[in-house]
Amino acid sequence: MSASLLEIKDLCVNVDEKEILHDINLSVNPGEVHVLMGPNGAGKSTLGFAIMGNPRYTITNGSVCFDGEDITEESTDKKANKGIYLSFQNPIEVPGISLGNFIRNALERKTEKKIRLWDFKKKMKSALEVLQMNPEYADRDLNVGFSGGEKKKAEILQMLMLKPKLAILDETDSGLDVDAVKTVSIGIEEYKKEVGGALLIITHSTRILDALDVDKVHVLVDGKIVTTSDKSLIEDINENGFERFL
Ligand SMILES: Nc1ncnc2c1ncn2[C@@H]1O[C@H](COP(=O)(O)OP(=O)(O)OP(=O)(O)O)[C@@H](O)[C@H]1O
Ligand SMILES: [Mg+2]
Repeated sequence: MSASLLEIKDLCVNVDEKEILHDINLSVNPGEVHVLMGPNGAGKSTLGFAIMGNPRYTITNGSVCFDGEDITEESTDKKANKGIYLSFQNPIEVPGISLGNFIRNALERKTEKKIRLWDFKKKMKSALEVLQMNPEYADRDLNVGFSGGEKKKAEILQMLMLKPKLAILDETDSGLDVDAVKTVSIGIEEYKKEVGGALLIITHSTRILDALDVDKVHVLVDGKIVTTSDKSLIEDINENGFERFL
């Protein structure tokens, strides 16, 4: 059994018969912060969906291990209950269930215990405060009518409440105003401090990383990880783009 929290080996992923990811190898230890960068269409979101087990993304080769267990074939629900969280690049609207109830249900499924409403409300209140969100959002239907930035904040709220061992954040910072980027960064720091969880952050902008200790940066091009390095690679990419990797 490996000591890694997430261990991806030789992963190939198809979407509609077309191979999008080729032989991906990636290993994240508990509590580490990894950044995944790469040009548009490189396959970053695909990797997030494949790890999480979205049925549209077929794993044709390789494996995904989490916390010492092979979870390649597990359902998304089971993966979530084991402690993986994926925040979507484009969060979907879910009419008929409030943000608060959605999170409460997910927590109850994960812990297999009923959570007292009063305890839940107290925790929600403090998480909403961290993210400077109006408490009324908890009672609104999940993401319905939320602005782009509000949807992203709601994703971070779920992460703070669910306390996963690994959070994959897919462009959580895109479309956020300057203040919201700061607020979301505070939310991420809070998650690191409180939960000590690991992060795989997919991003094009690097402002969200300023306050974080980044352990590794991976560059994905055309469905392959072409290089892995330390935080200094971010500055290099900001200055020189991805050209030298193409
Ligand atoms: N459901 C799908 N159906 C068809 N093609 C898909 C699907 N999902 C991904 N692809 C294709 O796979 C490739 C990788 O897409 P992906 O969304 O993973 O890129 P990305 O690296 O996240 O890009 P961006 O930086 O723009 O978010 C693209 O060419 C995309 O069109
Ligand atoms: Mg994407």
